[in-house]
Amino acid sequence: MADSKNIPISGVKEINNIDALREQVGLLQGRVLEREFENGNLKNEIRLLNIELDIYKEVGIITQDISNLDAILEKFIDTALKALDTDAGTLFLIDEISSELIFTVVRGGAQDRLKGKRMSVKEGIAGWVARTGLSYIASDVMNEPLWQKEFELMSQYATRDMMAVPLKAGEKIVGVVEVINKKRDMPYQKRDIDILTTLAGHASIILDKARLFLEIEKRVDEFRTLNEVGNLLISTLDQHVVRKRAMEAITKLMNAEVGSLLMVDEEKKELYFEVALGDKSDKVKEIRLKMGEGIAGWVAEHGEPLLIRDVANDPRFYKKADDKTKFVTRNMLCVPVKIRGNVIGVLQAINSKTDCFTDDDMSLFAMFSNQVAIALDNARLYEEIKETFIATAEALSEAIEKRDPYTGGHTKRVLCYSLAIAEYLNMSNEEKETLKFSAVLHDIGKIGVDDAILRKQAPLTKEEADVMKKHTLYGSEILGHVKQLKGLMPGMFAHHERPDGKGYPMGLKESDIPMTARIISVADTYDAMTTDRPYRKGLSPQTALDEIKKYSGTQFDRDVAEAFAKAFENGDIVNIMPPSGGDRI
Ligand SMILES: [Fe+2]
Repeated sequence: MADSKNIPISGVKEINNIDALREQVGLLQGRVLEREFENGNLKNEIRLLNIELDIYKEVGIITQDISNLDAILEKFIDTALKALDTDAGTLFLIDEISSELIFTVVRGGAQDRLKGKRMSVKEGIAGWVARTGLSYIASDVMNEPLWQKEFELMSQYATRDMMAVPLKAGEKIVGVVEVINKKRDMPYQKRDIDILTTLAGHASIILDKARLFLEIEKRVDEFRTLNEVGNLLISTLDQHVVRKRAMEAITKLMNAEVGSLLMVDEEKKELYFEVALGDKSDKVKEIRLKMGEGIAGWVAEHGEPLLIRDVANDPRFYKKADDKTKFVTRNMLCVPVKIRGNVIGVLQAINSKTDCFTDDDMSLFAMFSNQVAIALDNARLYEEIKETFIATAEALSEAIEKRDPYTGGHTKRVLCYSLAIAEYLNMSNEEKETLKFSAVLHDIGKIGVDDAILRKQAPLTKEEADVMKKHTLYGSEILGHVKQLKGLMPGMFAHHERPDGKGYPMGLKESDIPMTARIISVADTYDAMTTDRPYRKGLSPQTALDEIKKYSGTQFDRDVAEAFAKAFENGDIVNIMPPSGGDRI
């Protein structure tokens, strides 16, 4: 460098130039630094934009399948942590019913300790965000009065700084995302909160879509189950089966631990447990409630459904039921079963297997209750029709017996013997029903037989017997006029046929003879043998049994004779009723 002392006078300009140059260099250096700074910012900006781009790509990928919400939320939090250069964070979802935040996804080594834990929305920074819907940055949590130390201790994770943003579905706050401890000791900045807010916006859309998807899926599933159980309920006309199936359906449909059906006893103005499913069902069945007593009594009295989330603190709760069964009722759904506006029973779903029953569950339960009511009403009407029919059939057969004094009680005994035999023949309930009516009406054709023959107090001549034999044909003709009774014709028409073909009216053989007729034949003959006639004494039961065994395969069907013998040996025949009066054919 030149010494200033040696600089010539003419060099003043040069000196000035140097100063200017220095100034320019300084300016240039400043610009270079400025450019470097800008370049650095630009680089950082590009890096962040790249991260954002990656995030959107990932968000795009994870939104394509919203059927697995847990997996989506896990992916979301991992993406957020990567984008924000941090390695710990939590995604909370809000439980609206309990006003709590649930630790749904936890990252940062505390997953096992914190996942599933809950905290009130009144607590902590996350709670503040959930309540206000605003974002929050805490650069030093130790100086934050809102910071929840309890969870920090539980997580065993030392927190320096954190930020939290709300998750929204529309205007509604559905959760909170919290990230903790930015790496490289860098504090969280506004840019970070912008990224997290953008991500949370995407997550909110996903959550909303997933919620709708799961909601629709749940509804579809519920209606499918409702349809299935509804079909199952109306597939039977047996009241007891309807009631049992209704109970089984409750636990399935409502996802409840226990379900029960209480019926109203109109006379005593009480409710009794008709069916209860669960370990304690026998004990429960002993309980009767007065109308208005307990939750079920209240529902029966008011005809309104009830959803009780905390049963123990409901003054209507009938605590004795839990005391008796040692069962703990936590929550309950209770709906009335109404037929034409009258409460005939109450359905209860007890203890939701998920968390608690909801208003939606109650609507579904009410729909189910209507199906139960229809099925019970159908079954009741069917039973009434059957009762009317059997009473009519019995009245008809009694009319015949009134004409023939020696057949007193014959029809009832034949009915009882036939049903006793059926118990040993593996018959369906439907076949037993047909047998029952066929047995009651088997001699209805005698209405067409002349009194002189029917009431004759001596053995019949061949001609008279031939007339009497026509009662099987007359009976079929009478029933043939009634469409609903045609199913009874075979039993009536063929009850004097024999396996060896020597019976009447057709001389049918073996399996050509309908089963109901084969059974009535044994029951009818046994009663004829054991009853007194004006012209002979009846045989003893044992002797009559021996006769049936003796003619098994010829006069009587082998299987039926064997079933009769078993019923006889088990006391099912002799103990039915003492024979009296008599029958001729
Ligand atoms: Fe007969």
